[in-house]
Amino acid sequence: MFTEELFSKSARSNLRKDLSFANAIVEATNNVYDKDSNPRGVLNLGVAVNKLQEDMVLDKLNSINAVTKKDLDYGDPIGSTELRHNITDDIIVVNGLTSGLDKLASVLCDPGDAILIPSPCYSSFNLDFSLESKANVQLVKIPLVEFHDPGHISYYKSVYNELLEKGIKTKLIVITNPNNPLGICYSRPVLEAILQFANENSIFVLFDEIYALSVYRNQSYYKVNESNSTESDKQSSSPIISELDKFVPFESILSWNNLDNFIDPKLLIVAHGLSKDFCLNGFRVGWFVSPWNKSLNNAISILSEFSYIAGIADSIATRLLGDFDFIESFIVTVQKNLLVSFEKTTSYLNKKKVPFVPGMAGPFLWINIREQLFIWKNKNLKNGEKPLESLSELTFEDEISMWKDILENGRIYVTSGASYHSEEPGWIRLIFAIPWETLELGLDRLFDFITNSS
Ligand SMILES: Cc1ncc(COP(=O)(O)O)c(C=O)c1O
Repeated sequence: MFTEELFSKSARSNLRKDLSFANAIVEATNNVYDKDSNPRGVLNLGVAVNKLQEDMVLDKLNSINAVTKKDLDYGDPIGSTELRHNITDDIIVVNGLTSGLDKLASVLCDPGDAILIPSPCYSSFNLDFSLESKANVQLVKIPLVEFHDPGHISYYKSVYNELLEKGIKTKLIVITNPNNPLGICYSRPVLEAILQFANENSIFVLFDEIYALSVYRNQSYYKVNESNSTESDKQSSSPIISELDKFVPFESILSWNNLDNFIDPKLLIVAHGLSKDFCLNGFRVGWFVSPWNKSLNNAISILSEFSYIAGIADSIATRLLGDFDFIESFIVTVQKNLLVSFEKTTSYLNKKKVPFVPGMAGPFLWINIREQLFIWKNKNLKNGEKPLESLSELTFEDEISMWKDILENGRIYVTSGASYHSEEPGWIRLIFAIPWETLELGLDRLFDFITNSS
């Protein structure tokens, strides 16, 4: 007779996991709003995709999409030589970075070994790193206001020491640079402190640089804006926002020429892929680069049997990435389009007096809708609940209830801050890389729904 007891412990514990955040992404992606054909569909302002140059991507792909005999065969489990050659040396291609993260966790961690991830962080990391490997994902809560302060390494140290006291080994630190969800980049002094700490304790560091080419604000932009902003603008922004609104450029860890001063580079690995910068998350193509550690590459390659990319994806990606002129102009277009949409979105948010972290990279903004959550909460009190009197009474439970209401009844998907392990209730991650007509409709609908629903 069948019972779930027949499954492995691992499968049974996976079946007990709360997948409501992951399931919402599937609904938002597959039941898309269209005013004529699917008016009850979901307006997706939450999944990190860049829709701003879809026609350019489609035209290019359709122009190179000829299936050849080679595409019918098994390829190379780590990506064809041509594809790898078009990206860089010492690379392992996997079927999406998600799949790669799972493999990396299995290579580095025995069940129970810890992976430290600074929060707020990408919501799926927890599942990606732990579902199969049974690694122990531990958040390191970094107060937003300290993001650029190298002294915040003390938070890593205290989580590390607490785990050590319990006999738990830390194997990996995950740094997402540019950061998801904040849209800002790590400064050198912060990264140096993290690298030194990792080196002292023989911890690997993964640099997830999946948004590396989506940097849309540069130094001259900041200079112009700095000279245009008035004293009253500066005084009216919150201390967190003014602390974070400074130009910290993105520098790939692959470009550092003095890594040895901070860490044994064998402890480093870098990740990138087609999903974000190339707007192709459906292709399921990601990769690891580790020019410093052949045996780490080999250990991941052995698992690559389970993460072949499809022959057709390999050959299209090879032809796409091999067209250097196209890629150059495409990246310029991506960055320009992001900037235009950032300007429109932030001026909309400013009019609504909604604070946000002033991002410079990636298709998202980390915005604070505590005021709106407060209004929503007082209109949706449960039996016996007294009206809240101050914002500080809001809870993550309130935030998640509002998020569910927005999805189920407002038919809008945004990413709740709680799923990203935010510091306090009331943050959401908003995707702004959406054609303005749809984005504006979504934002109007979102704010109307929150403040009027009961
Ligand atoms: C920081 C980060 N890493 C990895 C991924 C997953 O990438 P892929 O589509 O290649 O699986 C995402 C997707 O949102 C992400 O934001």
